[in-house]
Amino acid sequence: MTQSEWLSKLLEIEKEFESLKEKSDCAQIQEIFLSKKGKLTILLRELGSFSVKERKELGKKGNILKEKILSFLESKKSSSFSLKKYSFDIDTTLPPQLLNQSLLHPITITMNKIAESFIKLGFSIEWGPLIEEDFYNFEALNFPPYHPARDMQDTFYTELKDDKGKNYLLRTHTSSVQIRTMLKYKPPLRVISFGKVFRSEAIDATHSFVFHQLEGFYVDKNVSMAELKWALEFFIKDIFGDSASIRFSPSYFPFVEPGAQVEVSCVFCGGKDKNCKVCHGSGWIEMLGAGVIHPNVLKNCNYDSDNWSGFAFGAGIERFAMLIFGIDDMRVFYENDLRILRQIY
Ligand code: FA5
Repeated sequence: MTQSEWLSKLLEIEKEFESLKEKSDCAQIQEIFLSKKGKLTILLRELGSFSVKERKELGKKGNILKEKILSFLESKKSSSFSLKKYSFDIDTTLPPQLLNQSLLHPITITMNKIAESFIKLGFSIEWGPLIEEDFYNFEALNFPPYHPARDMQDTFYTELKDDKGKNYLLRTHTSSVQIRTMLKYKPPLRVISFGKVFRSEAIDATHSFVFHQLEGFYVDKNVSMAELKWALEFFIKDIFGDSASIRFSPSYFPFVEPGAQVEVSCVFCGGKDKNCKVCHGSGWIEMLGAGVIHPNVLKNCNYDSDNWSGFAFGAGIERFAMLIFGIDDMRVFYENDLRILRQIY
């Protein structure tokens, strides 16, 4: 075979490949051109009969075609492979399988709702530590040592002592944040706080040894019970709707004077159902403790109590959450029973 015969054979093979490549599958192309008896393999074998110089020149051209066929086979293999795979494994017409979605805990939702309400009144949010000093939890709030009012809040004490030689304790209420905030900032102040509090109490439908509280306070000039009543009325209507109303009755907390217990009209029966599980027919639900901040508390925070006055209030978040979600046992919030949580949302 002459050089030009070899080259025209190569050209013929290339033409054949071009005409077959879209019609045939990979195995056929492989078989026709590159197998042991393939046309290109045989032609390349012929190179042995040429001189070294000729072999080099012709071989280069032959290898270019061989590379062309190989890379064509490679690209076809990978695209047909992926097509095959996906067309068998995925039916894109099926509706997607929904993953379990995480949601906020009902207590967090309740805290967010409450926060939104007070933010409308210009309140900001402050946070305090869960492990607290006796000073912030009791003393500065006008609970002197050994005062019987301390017994209203069964306290968990740690063995660790603070700088004043008192045992650190788990805070029993969020009122400690009042003190921390007043010592940090100058008046006027409008602040709310939330968080876990701890009391050594037996668990039942309305009590736990760990629960959450809301605290709020306002310090300014000439603040009275009137401002407290207005702010709480706004808040309760914002949460439960315009038909909700509140009423005050006297109560005692060492850090307020006068002190009050605040009840909200029953949002379930409006006082019309004698067998109402929530208000027991009274038409009122006890929701908050509140009052005008005691002058001793202001003094303990280095505020001039002749110039400044304020109101404060506190409530259990679980109680609000129970009313918002229509739940009559707060243990539900801690058990994480999906069957019940699904009904809440
Ligand atoms: C206080 O803790 C005061 N610090 C509230 C306060 C703040 C009054 C500012 C005045 C001014 P009391 O001990 O009543 O108050 O608790 C407040 C609320 O926490 C209660 O109304 C109740 O809803 C909730 N609470 C109390 N003990 C428990 C408990 N063991 N489990 C769940 N919630 C509780």
